[in-house]
Amino acid sequence: MTASTSAPSTSAMLQLRGLGKSFELHHQHGARLDVLDEVELTLHAGECVVLSGPSGVGKSSLLRVIYANYRPSRGVVRVRHDGDWLDLAEATPHQVLEVRRRTLGYVSQFLRVIPRVPALDIVAEPLLETGLSTQEARQRAGTLLHRLNVPERLWLLPPGTFSGGEQQRVNIARGLIVSRPLLLLDEPTASLDADNRVVVAELLEEARAAGSAVLGIFHDEDMRDRVATRLFPMRPFQIT
Ligand SMILES: Nc1ncnc2c1ncn2[C@@H]1O[C@H](COP(=O)(O)OP(=O)(O)OP(=O)(O)O)[C@@H](O)[C@H]1O
Ligand SMILES: [Mg+2]
Repeated sequence: MTASTSAPSTSAMLQLRGLGKSFELHHQHGARLDVLDEVELTLHAGECVVLSGPSGVGKSSLLRVIYANYRPSRGVVRVRHDGDWLDLAEATPHQVLEVRRRTLGYVSQFLRVIPRVPALDIVAEPLLETGLSTQEARQRAGTLLHRLNVPERLWLLPPGTFSGGEQQRVNIARGLIVSRPLLLLDEPTASLDADNRVVVAELLEEARAAGSAVLGIFHDEDMRDRVATRLFPMRPFQIT
């Protein structure tokens, strides 16, 4: 584990306090799944915290709550946005979009393919939203795709027919092309070979060195040991 690598800053970027998420199981006589209960976590700039625990324990659900895909049932999700704390549990949809655009990135396991849009533009799009010219954005997208070993002959094709690992690398490139202070990663390297995992680990180290805070899920133990500065074990939940 790279715990000895000192963080460039100790400023908190994310605070979870008393965070809970319950799912009502309508088909099971109103049984309730308390997937997240009293989660307390502070994430600092420059660290990479890896969520650990068995399948089904609620790791992906926690990332979805933080990204505001799921509304929490209890507690707060405080994100440092433009220097101020903002509770995403209470934020307006407009605020959530602003936070996602500039502060909070999320790389899911699978690429959401947009029909007819070539890989290069899928990766370049987040840069265009920051006001960069199309030419500059495409150039930077190409540099990152090249680094992730996506062959140039694929860049102008829509990724629908790409292999799982090629799609995953396009997804990672899209998620990392804009440097955001907070990064959520849900098994971004699951279908990658060893060489490409190393590239992703290096990209994450660079993001941390630039001050980003990373919260991720990595099933592969080597990858976890390489990128984690700290593990956050998750407890099995209750069904009531
Ligand atoms: N929208 C939902 N409605 C009902 N139950 C859900 C919903 N989303 C997640 N769950 C349940 O919450 C539990 C945790 O799921 P989650 O995907 O967070 O686990 P995980 O720790 O990421 O597992 P894995 O390691 O297999 O990816 C599961 O039992 C799942 O069925
Ligand atoms: Mg999961």
